[in-house]
Amino acid sequence: MKYSFDIELTTIPKPKPDPDTLKFGKVFTDHMFIMEYETGKGWHDGRVVPYGPITLDPAAAVLHYGQEMFEGMKAYSTPDKRVQLFRPYLNAARARKSNERLCMPEIDDELFVSAIKTIVDIDRSWVPEKEGTSLYIRPFVFADDAFLGVHAANHYKFMIILSPVGPYFDIPGGGIVPISIYVEDELVRAAIGGVGFAKVGGNYAASLKAQSKAQSLGCAQVLWLDAKEHSFVEEIGTSNAFFMIEDEVITAPLQGTILPGITRTSVIELLKKWGIKVSERKLRIEDIENAAKEGKLKEIFGSGTAVVISSISKLMRKDYEIIVGDGGIGKLTQRLYDTLHGIQTGRIPDEMNWTVEV
Ligand SMILES: Cc1ncc(COP(=O)(O)O)c(C=O)c1O
Repeated sequence: MKYSFDIELTTIPKPKPDPDTLKFGKVFTDHMFIMEYETGKGWHDGRVVPYGPITLDPAAAVLHYGQEMFEGMKAYSTPDKRVQLFRPYLNAARARKSNERLCMPEIDDELFVSAIKTIVDIDRSWVPEKEGTSLYIRPFVFADDAFLGVHAANHYKFMIILSPVGPYFDIPGGGIVPISIYVEDELVRAAIGGVGFAKVGGNYAASLKAQSKAQSLGCAQVLWLDAKEHSFVEEIGTSNAFFMIEDEVITAPLQGTILPGITRTSVIELLKKWGIKVSERKLRIEDIENAAKEGKLKEIFGSGTAVVISSISKLMRKDYEIIVGDGGIGKLTQRLYDTLHGIQTGRIPDEMNWTVEV
């Protein structure tokens, strides 16, 4: 490893949570990674320290202007007790682009992945083994200059925290359960030229209102439409969206408004490998409605680190509802879930060379 970091181990290890009742993102491990940046000096003082609160000046830029980005990925325990990551270099590359968009200093891909491997290795006893569980990894960067002018900061922190997690949708043992999605007609997530492609906190703050509306209507997540015409489908909550109409699987193109998901890329690569027609193209919600009426809408699924693959059984809009396929879990949806989850957890061979051992 090109990078090495100082390590201070905790003297008071915490009790591990019960793997049977793990939720998403509520419990944190014994340690965290932290590194500083200063203009002129670059990234320095990378270290692992006991997990705990940090102090911030009340004028820290992140608190006022949201100069912040984060990543999300998982470490999985395999049946032969190895710990592996799923395509971490793609997270590193996406982090670079998010940093660049918010005028934050880039982190070299090797440094990013080395830091992740180091902290996961130290807390490897926290990687849960039960089916459907994993160790969620949250790297993030934020501006901590104490200055109230609006400009790019000169000081930043790069941190990584870890959280043992259960299934995103609270399904014992993991797996898929069909969910309903609310089609959001008024609020928008991102416009071309904005920051939709970057994983930055502001995108998520701006999504909460629509998310709570969806939940109040009994839906699990929001299907976002494009900002200009309110017609083209973009993404679903914290997942990318795929629509199977007849024998074509369609997903929104990368035009700067959706997050280029690592699971999305993997789904596209798998579909191509399987000889299934997959298109990255614009698709109107009205075309989906028509396809449903004509019995051509076969499956809708979401892809993302948290859910792996989620099955969408119902779309709810202001004035109608669409039941997708037969209202159950589609065959392709299930096959993708089984394959991706199988590769991630080392239960099926990784022919694509996607996993990286810690
Ligand atoms: C808005 C958004 N879209 C899509 C995704 C899926 O990306 P990935 O597959 O890299 O987890 C996420 C999750 O990180 C997300 O937050």
